[in-house]
Amino acid sequence: MTDDANKMWGGRFEAGPDAIMEAINASIGFDQRLARHDIEGSLAHAAMLAATGIITDSDAKAIREGLLTVLSEIETGTFRFQVALEDIHMNIESHLQKLIGTPAGRLHTARSRNDQVATDLRLWVRDQCDAAIAGIRALQRALVDQAEAGADWVMPGFTHLQTAQPVTWGHHMMAYVEMLERDASRLGDARNRMNECPLGACALAGTSFPIDRDATASALGFDRPMANSLDAVADRDFALEFLAASAIVATHLSRLAEEIVIWSSAQFRFVSLSDRYSTGSSIMPQKRNPDAAELVRAKTGRILGSAVGLFTVMKGLALAYSKDLQEDKEQVFDAADSLMLVLAAMEGMVRDMSADPDVLTAAASSGYSTSTDLADWLVREAGLPFREAHEATGRLVAMAEAENKELQELTLEQMKSVHKAITDQVRDVLGAESSVRSRTSFGGTAPERVREQVVLWRERLS
Ligand code: ARG
Repeated sequence: MTDDANKMWGGRFEAGPDAIMEAINASIGFDQRLARHDIEGSLAHAAMLAATGIITDSDAKAIREGLLTVLSEIETGTFRFQVALEDIHMNIESHLQKLIGTPAGRLHTARSRNDQVATDLRLWVRDQCDAAIAGIRALQRALVDQAEAGADWVMPGFTHLQTAQPVTWGHHMMAYVEMLERDASRLGDARNRMNECPLGACALAGTSFPIDRDATASALGFDRPMANSLDAVADRDFALEFLAASAIVATHLSRLAEEIVIWSSAQFRFVSLSDRYSTGSSIMPQKRNPDAAELVRAKTGRILGSAVGLFTVMKGLALAYSKDLQEDKEQVFDAADSLMLVLAAMEGMVRDMSADPDVLTAAASSGYSTSTDLADWLVREAGLPFREAHEATGRLVAMAEAENKELQELTLEQMKSVHKAITDQVRDVLGAESSVRSRTSFGGTAPERVREQVVLWRERLS
């Protein structure tokens, strides 16, 4: 081996790699983020090697102390990462060698970078699932606070972004609490499924050393070792699940973000964002832009892009490890960073956002939002079949529209001219407030139902 060849694997090499080879091969630029998990994995591995008598206790002790020194150097920023050493695993091992000499060379017994990196990334993604779930919980709490404050504020509910039926602000907020709950549960499911340990699968086939995989698995908080060594080093489905679950979270947040953009516009004025979550324009002094909401909306593209990126890397890869798998990390890191950021930004926006109940009520009372209530009244009070009631109500809406009026502004005579069964009692159901109060079915928008949900969720989230 010449001096140029890689010290960690260059035994059979005469020359070092071309600069381009080094550039395409190296992952240290990004996988240094795995440092802490890599060292945790190595600590568990070394302890197991000593416990099984594969290395001596004194070597294990030297390795342990050396690794802790490496960790503190990395954490204090004094560690010098080298591209020539390719990745985080070899950077750490090479430095360990400098610190403690010979025992460092025994750390890689009964291990390969293939099971090592699979273990590191699982540990990293597992932590990220926990962090994302915590971020979701914080956002849910902010939404529940909004829901409680506005449990009985009426607003227009939309379909096709056309006024449909009145709903309550609280009900709208709680819809997102439910969506986010499924998101948290998806991340939790992924976390449970990924919680098996690849360490000890070695390069691909296992090892002839008498290792104790249960010991390393439990030391690292995994439920059990993975049962197939090829699967352990070859699959990244746990990362795909994390990315897919993250993309769904982001998709949900992008819908709320879009609503905030619409609601905060001068045409709607349903909500105003706080100064802390708005930006001005350098040319138009009147502007308050919902940039944070727009960026939450846009980052969905990035997170979904990471998912698509890794799916594409994985498809068609023959077992077991191929270097393609090194491309898993940047997708995971970028998506995870973006996800944490959008969750935090959305939580801040929702916390600070103030809805205007008067504007909401006015909007809820226009656009013939209580037409269904009128049709339902005809069914209930006049015994009409729903289709006939629908038709009569449609004619009343057309009449009101022609006169540029709301339904409640029509005279009784006008209403009777469309259907003789109509009496003055009908006015009771034409207001947006009575409309929402009447929607008491389970899961409906009535303030009392919303308050029940708020109480339930407060408990769940405490
Ligand atoms: N840096 C590599 C990765 O991230 C580590 C595994 C390398 N294994 C190998 N056989 N070259 O995938």
